Formats: sequence, C-alpha cells, structure tokens
Amino acid sequence: MIVIRVRRTAAAATRVAAGLVAGALRDDPRLVLGLPTGRTVVGFYAALVQLHRRGRADFRRATGFNLDEFYGLGPDAKQSFRAFLQRHFYDHVNLPSSRAHALSGNPASWRREAARFDRRMRAAGGLGLCVLGIGRNGHVAFNEPARRLRGPTHLERLTPMTRRDNAAAFGGRWQDVPARALTVGLDAILGARQVLLVATGRSKAGIIHRAFCGPVTGRVPASMLQRHASVTVVLDRAAAARLGR
Ligand code: GLP
Repeated sequence: MIVIRVRRTAAAATRVAAGLVAGALRDDPRLVLGLPTGRTVVGFYAALVQLHRRGRADFRRATGFNLDEFYGLGPDAKQSFRAFLQRHFYDHVNLPSSRAHALSGNPASWRREAARFDRRMRAAGGLGLCVLGIGRNGHVAFNEPARRLRGPTHLERLTPMTRRDNAAAFGGRWQDVPARALTVGLDAILGARQVLLVATGRSKAGIIHRAFCGPVTGRVPASMLQRHASVTVVLDRAAAARLGR
C-alpha cells in the first residue's frame, strides 16, 4: 500500500520524513536503515539530527546501509556518498561506526564488493526501513531505467541525465561525474519492511506522477514500489503538483 503525505514546503516535508524515521526507531531501536544521498535529503538528515539532539531519535542500537556509491572514487573523495553520509548524518548521531555500512567505490573486484554488501544486509536481517530519494528519470538508489531491473547489488551505468544532476559536486561538468556506480538492487529495496520515499521541488512533479499513477515498469524504476506492501511517499506541494486531489 502507498500512503502519500503532502506538505506545503520542502522543509516541512523533510521534517515529516525525519519524524517517521524517529517513530520507526522508537518502535524498533534495532532498526536497519537504508540511507540515500542527494540534495533533497540534506534537509531530511538535518531534521533527523535535530530530533536526535532533542533526545527523540536514538541510533545507539540501529544499523545503517548507504544505498549506493560512485564507482572509481576512493574512500577519501569528498564527492563520495560515504563522505556525504558522514558529513550530513553519521558525524552528528550516535550510530556506532561498526554498524555504518558503505559500499567501497574502488574495490579490487566490484562483484566481490557487491556480494559482501548483500551478505552484510542479509546478516542484519535485511533493511527494516529503506529511505529513498528519486532521480528525475525515476531512479531509486542508482537503479537506472531498464527493461529488466536487477535484484542484487551491482554496478550500474549512469545516464547522462543522472550525471548532469550530480555535476555540481564535481565542479559543474557532467563529464567529470563517474560514469558508473555501485548500487543496491531491487531485492534490498523491495525486501525492506517499510519504504519511505522523499521528493521535493517542481522538477520531481512529472516523475512522481509517472512512478505512482502510471504503469509498473522498469523504465520508471520507482514505479516498482507500487508492488511493495508498505510505502510512504512524502512530498512538498511542488512535487505533488501532478497528482490531483
Ligand atoms: C542520486 C542518488 C539517488 C537520489 C538522487 C536524487 O542520484 N543516487 O539515490 O535519489 O540522487 O537526488 P536529488 O535529491 O539531488 O534530486
């Protein structure tokens, strides 16, 4: 089932999303989180950190899995998703670093790295709550549109649109954005007990409509969430503009 919640502003939407995570954490202090990156979720993490500071979100027993990583970036690269999550989230909460899992962007073998990550997620009991953003082409984590989406963690070729959308962190040139990324696949996302997708801004209105009102198709990876039993979509008014009433 999909529950859609709309707030007037992006700040209000990301606060609602953070509140839902804090609530899930109170229900299950050992919550296993899937954690996304992107401009949208900067405000979400800030709100979550606020809740933590106010004593309303305790991550002491929680576990985190970063959902994706650019391929070819070392662990110290400041554009890496590992660095993003460290900066916006892990540095400010009490989630033990031994349970903050990330994909390496420069493994000796991406297949072994992907298999290691899938084993880790399985050993943790799978994702309890997978938080997602959405790309303008409907990608979730880095699962790009395709006829058949892949289940396991894998290496994905990024579309020019996705590389353009990520260019700011690489000095503005899309050609400087890595062409490939490691990402969890649909198994981890659809296997999560709950999914929380956050989208804000006018640029997401079209894809939100296609993902949740259109057919389920690999061409719009987020549309696969229509098959999940428990999805909450939190939007600001701009991103919800094409959903009707
Ligand atoms: C990247 C991430 C996605 C995220 C997307 C949205 O591509 N891999 O997981 O959903 O960004 O980014 P933004 O919020 O900046 O639009």
